[in-house]
Amino acid sequence: MNKNIILCGFMGCGKTTVGENLKKKAGMYLVDTDAYIEKTQNMTISEIFAEYGEDHFRELEHQACKELSQKKGIIISTGGGALTFQRNVDVLKETGTIVLIDVPLEVLKERLKYDKTRPLLQRPDKDEAMKALYEKRMPLYKNAADIVINGDNSPLQVAINILNATKS
Ligand code: S3P
Repeated sequence: MNKNIILCGFMGCGKTTVGENLKKKAGMYLVDTDAYIEKTQNMTISEIFAEYGEDHFRELEHQACKELSQKKGIIISTGGGALTFQRNVDVLKETGTIVLIDVPLEVLKERLKYDKTRPLLQRPDKDEAMKALYEKRMPLYKNAADIVINGDNSPLQVAINILNATKS
């Protein structure tokens, strides 16, 4: 079977940029769950959170995971919360290999310092909130993942390493 490659990891781990590199290298189609939701809803992720709240977003995200898991041989880049829900892991695993892009918290903090696009990080205690979320999520990501790749590297190198790891 032509398995999908599912990119998983914390906000800022590089799922989108690694996905772009992987797409070029592997010649595979790439879909980002956030971009898919934004397109179907005709709203940005920030607007969806502000207007309808996180629970509603998680429903849309689950719907996106279900729909995208029907495809074959594509790369699916997931939002940072997606694979912390078992229902999403279950549907995506049926047709795909889940790859965790593993990046240390300190590197993520640096990468997300000036970010304004992630609703969960727009708060005065951003550093503490990130630490708490990271510690809560890492075990869930590791549990969901079939493969763990070091993401503290250039996006191209990470993409090459993912390709090699998913070939066999
Ligand atoms: C989220 C991560 C975001 C996006 C939404 C919620 C999360 O995606 O899905 O803001 O819960 O970690 P990225 O990981 O692509 O930033």
